[in-house]
Amino acid sequence: QKVDKGHFRHFMLKEIYEQAEIAALWVGKHLAKARIDSKYLQSDSLISLSLDDEVFEGIERIQILACGTSRHASLIGAYLLEQFAGIPTSVFYASEFRYAPPPLLSNTLTIAVTQSGETADTLAALQMEQKRLEARADPLCNSCQLGITNRPDSSLTRQVSHLLYISAGIEIGVAATKTFLGQLLTFYGLTLAFAERRNSCSKSELRALVTELQELPYYLRKLIKEHDELCANLAENFDDVRGVVFLGRGINYPIALEGALKLKEISYIQAEGYPAGEMKHGPIALLDPEVPVVSIAVPGRVFSKVISNCQEAKARDAKVIGITPIGPETKLFDMLLPIPEVSEWLSPLLTVIPMQLLSYHIACHRGLDVDQPRNLAKSVTVE
Ligand code: G6P
Repeated sequence: QKVDKGHFRHFMLKEIYEQAEIAALWVGKHLAKARIDSKYLQSDSLISLSLDDEVFEGIERIQILACGTSRHASLIGAYLLEQFAGIPTSVFYASEFRYAPPPLLSNTLTIAVTQSGETADTLAALQMEQKRLEARADPLCNSCQLGITNRPDSSLTRQVSHLLYISAGIEIGVAATKTFLGQLLTFYGLTLAFAERRNSCSKSELRALVTELQELPYYLRKLIKEHDELCANLAENFDDVRGVVFLGRGINYPIALEGALKLKEISYIQAEGYPAGEMKHGPIALLDPEVPVVSIAVPGRVFSKVISNCQEAKARDAKVIGITPIGPETKLFDMLLPIPEVSEWLSPLLTVIPMQLLSYHIACHRGLDVDQPRNLAKSVTVE
C-alpha cells in the first residue's frame, strides 16, 4: 500500500492530523450504538470488541508488556483498567519482563502492545510467558493472552489467540503519534467493556465517559489546528535550552513521559518526564532559566497540587509552559497551550496533542529530519 504525504511537509504532521479521523472512525464503530439512556447498560453490549467471553470472565489481574511509546499508552491503559474498571494491572518493559518476570498467578490476562507487531522484546516476552504457562502441570485457569497492534499481518497476530486491531492506517514517521492514540482508544474500549460487565462504576460515570468519547473527534479537530499554529510560534523559545522537564500526574503522568520521549526522539534535546509530585526529589535541582518546565495541569483530583509544583518551578526561575484549560490559574504560566475543560478520564487523549506538535515544531525549527531521526528505527526487530 502506497502512502504519500499529501500537502503536509512531513509524514509526522500528516499523522498527527489524521488522529481526529481515527477517533471519528473508532467512535462510529464502537460507540455509535451506545444509547445514553437509563437502560442502555442492561441491553446491548456497550461496545463490540470482538472478544469472546473467555477474556472477560474470571480475569482477576492484567499484565501488559510493551516498549517505547506503546508502553506509555499501556501505562494510561493500566490507569483506566485499575481506576475505572477496578482490575489490578501492571505494566512491564518487555525487555525487563523477559528476564525477570513476576511469579505466575492464575486468572491473569497478558496483553502485548506493539504497533508494528514486530518488536523483538515484546514478542519474546510474550512467548516466554506462553511457555511458562504451558510448562505448568496444572493449567492456570483463565490465563490468556491478547495482542494490541496496528498490523494485522504481523508476527504478533500469529502469536496470540485474541487480537485487537487499532485501525490507525500505516504509520511512516518513526516517532509514533497516531498509533499511540489508536492504542489509547483500544484501552478505553477495553476499559468500558470490562467496567460494563463488572459493574465497577456507576451508570452515570460510564455514561459521562461515553458521552465525552463521542465528542472526542470534534475536540481533536479543533485542538490539532489551534496547537499546530501555537506550537510553531513557541518553537523558537527552545533555541537555547539545556533540557526540558515534563510534569504530569495521575492519568497524565504517562503523557509527561511521552512528551519527553517525543522531544528526545526527534529534537535530540535532553528531556525528563516526571510525576509532578516527585519534582522535589531530584528534577528541581535542574531548574533554571535554561531548563523550561512543561506542565500538564488538568482540573481534577490533583489540580491544586500540580499548580503548586508549577509555582515551585517558577520560584527557581524556570519558564513554565502550561497545558491546561483557561482559568484563574492561567496567569501563572509563561506560555500557554490551552486545552478544553474535559474530565480527567478523557484528558490524555487531548493533552498528548501539544506534546506531539511541540516536539514536531522544535525539530523542524532546528532543521532536523523529523520523519527519520538519527539512530532510531520504526520497529526494532532485534534484541
Ligand atoms: C521503536 C520506535 C518507537 C516505538 C517502539 C515500540 O523504538 O522508534 O516509536 O514506540 O519502537 O514499537 P512498537 O512497534 O512495539 O510499538
